Amino acid sequence: MKASPLATAGIALASAAQAQVVQFDIEKRDGPLLRDLSRRATTVNGVLSNQQVQGGYFLNVEVGTPPQNITLQLDTGSSDVWVPASSAAICTEVSQRNPGCTFGSFNSDKSSTFVDVGQGDFDITYVDNTFSKGDYFQDDFHIGGVTVSNLTMGLGLDSSIANGLIGVGYVNDEASLGTTRSTYPNLPVVLQKEKLINTVAYSLWLNDLDASTGSILFGGIDTEKYEGDLTKINILRADNSNVFTEFAVELYEVQATSPSGTDTLSTNAGTLVAVLDSGTTLTYLPQDMAEEAWKEVGASYNEEFGLAVVPCSIRNINGHFSFTFAGPQGPKINVSMAELALDLFSGGPAPKFSSGPNQGQSVCEFGIQNTTGAPYLLGDTFLRSAFVVYDLVNNEIAIAPTSFNSTKTNVVAFASSGAPIPSATSAPNQSKSGPSSSTGSGLSAASGFQSNDNAAPLTSAFSGPGAIVVGLTLGYTLLGSAIFGIGWL
Ligand SMILES: *[C@@H]1O[C@H](CO)[C@@H](O)[C@H](O)[C@H]1NC(C)=O
Ligand SMILES: *[C@@H]1O[C@H](CO)[C@@H](O)[C@H](O)[C@H]1NC(C)=O
Ligand SMILES: *[C@@H]1O[C@H](CO)[C@@H](O)[C@H](O)[C@H]1NC(C)=O
Ligand SMILES: *[C@@H]1O[C@H](CO)[C@@H](O)[C@H](O)[C@H]1NC(C)=O
Ligand SMILES: *[C@@H]1O[C@H](CO)[C@@H](O)[C@H](O)[C@H]1NC(C)=O
Ligand SMILES: *[C@@H]1O[C@H](CO)[C@@H](O)[C@H](O)[C@H]1NC(C)=O
Repeated sequence: MKASPLATAGIALASAAQAQVVQFDIEKRDGPLLRDLSRRATTVNGVLSNQQVQGGYFLNVEVGTPPQNITLQLDTGSSDVWVPASSAAICTEVSQRNPGCTFGSFNSDKSSTFVDVGQGDFDITYVDNTFSKGDYFQDDFHIGGVTVSNLTMGLGLDSSIANGLIGVGYVNDEASLGTTRSTYPNLPVVLQKEKLINTVAYSLWLNDLDASTGSILFGGIDTEKYEGDLTKINILRADNSNVFTEFAVELYEVQATSPSGTDTLSTNAGTLVAVLDSGTTLTYLPQDMAEEAWKEVGASYNEEFGLAVVPCSIRNINGHFSFTFAGPQGPKINVSMAELALDLFSGGPAPKFSSGPNQGQSVCEFGIQNTTGAPYLLGDTFLRSAFVVYDLVNNEIAIAPTSFNSTKTNVVAFASSGAPIPSATSAPNQSKSGPSSSTGSGLSAASGFQSNDNAAPLTSAFSGPGAIVVGLTLGYTLLGSAIFGIGWL
C-alpha cells in the first residue's frame, strides 16, 4: 500500500512490496481461448503466482517493443505500474545481500516505442518505507494475452525494491499527485478506454496458501470461484474527502470460533475502517484486538522478529476467525487456522521455540498482527479466503467466501460501463457507524484453539516466559532481511 499523509508514517509492515527470493513459480495463460475472450471486449484474465513466504502475488507481463519479460507484484493498495530500470543500482550492484532484479527489469534503450513523459516525476513510497523514484514513461504493455498501447508507467531509476509493481487502485492514489499534482489513466482505466473490458472493475481470487496460482480477472467475475452469494458493500471515502483513494471498507466485527466457543474480539479503536490490500502479506488490526486474537490462539509477540508468532502446528486446529463487514447483516468471511500460520523462511528448517510453553515446536508467523493506528490492513492472509470484486465506477466491493482450488470457470462480464457487479446483492442496513467500541465476549474459544487431540496440547500462552526463538541464522541472511523490512542498501 502506498504511503499517504493520512497513513501512519513508518509502521513496520513485514514484507509489503518486497520480493527477494529466487524460487518462484510463474504461470502465464496465453492460449487462444483467452485471446478470444478478450477480443470480445469483455474480460482480461491474468494468472497470478503465489510466492508464499514473501506473500506476494506476481504477474508476468511484457513491456516495450520488442517485448521485455518482467514479473510484477499485484497491489490493490497502490495505483501505479512501475518497472525497475535495468540501469538502477539495485539491479546492477549484485552482491551476496542483493540478488539483483531477478524478476526482470526494463531497458528503455532497447524499446523502440519508449517515450519518456515525465522526468523525475515518478516518486512512490510504500507504507513500509520502501520506495522507487524516476521518470514516467509510456510504452506498450502486454498482459494476459492483450496489448495496451501507450500505458503510462513509472521507471524506477533509484529504487529500494528489486521488483516492480502493478498497482490497480484508484487514479486518485497515483504517485503523480505528489509531484505533478495530476492523475493519468492507469491500467484498469486504460483497459476500459481501449475497450478490452466494459467497465473499470476486476475480481481477485488468490486461492489457498498452498496453491501456487490464483487469478485477477479484469472486467468480470467468475461464479465458480466463490461459495454462496456475492454481497456488495460500499467503499468508504476518507473523512473530508470527496474522492475515493483506496479500498477502504467498514470492518464491523471480528470473531474467533473454535470447538470450545465463539468470541467477539474487543477494541476501543472505534468504528474500524480497513483497507483490502493485496500488496500486504499479513493482516493488521488495532493493538487491543490483535492482542486478543493472540490470546485466543496462544500466539506470542517476538521482539526479535517484531512479529506475533505461533507454533506452526496451529494450522491443524479446527477453528477460524470470522470477519464481518458493513453492519451486522453484512457479508462474513471465515479464515481458517490453516491460512493463518505462515512459514518464516523458505528452504531450510524452520526455527524452533527454544524455551517457553511451545519449546521444541516449529515457529510460524501468525496471520494477524498489530499496528499502532489506521490504516488497518486486510492483506493476503485475509484475502485468500475471499473472492473479491472491485468496482471502481460504482465504488463498491462485492465479497464472498472463496472456493478453494476450484478448477471450474464461469466468467460473467460486466454488461457495460457503470453496470452493477453481476450476481451480487447489496448488504442491508449498511452504515458507517458500527459499534464505537465493542467490549468483546471473553475467551471461550481459547481452549479449543490451544488443544489438539492429535498432538501434545499446547499450553496456554498466558503463563510462562515469552517465546525465545533460535535458529536465526538459518536462511536468514537473504530472506530475513526482506521479511522483516531491513533495507537492502
Ligand atoms: C519471455 O517469456 C516467454 C513466455 O513466457 C518465453 O518464451 C521467453 O523465452 C521469455 N523471454 C525472456 C527473455 O526471458
Ligand atoms: C502515446 O501518447 C503520446 C503522449 O501522450 C502521444 O503523443 C502518442 O500519440 C500516443 N501514441 C499512441 C499510439 O496512442
Ligand atoms: C488446495 O490445493 C493445495 C495444493 O494441491 C493443497 O495443498 C490444499 O490442501 C488444497 N486446499 C484445499 C482447501 O483443499
Ligand atoms: C463461518 O463461521 C460461522 C461461525 O463462526 C458459521 O456460522 C458460518 O456458517 C461460517 N460460514 C461459512 C461460509 O462457512
Ligand atoms: C505490537 O505489539 C507489540 C507487543 O505489545 C509491541 O511491542 C509493538 O510495538 C507493537 N507494534 C506496533 C507496530 O504497534
Ligand atoms: C434492515 O434491512 C431490512 C431489509 O432491507 C429491513 O427490513 C429492516 O427493517 C432493516 N433493519 C434495520 C434495523 O434497519
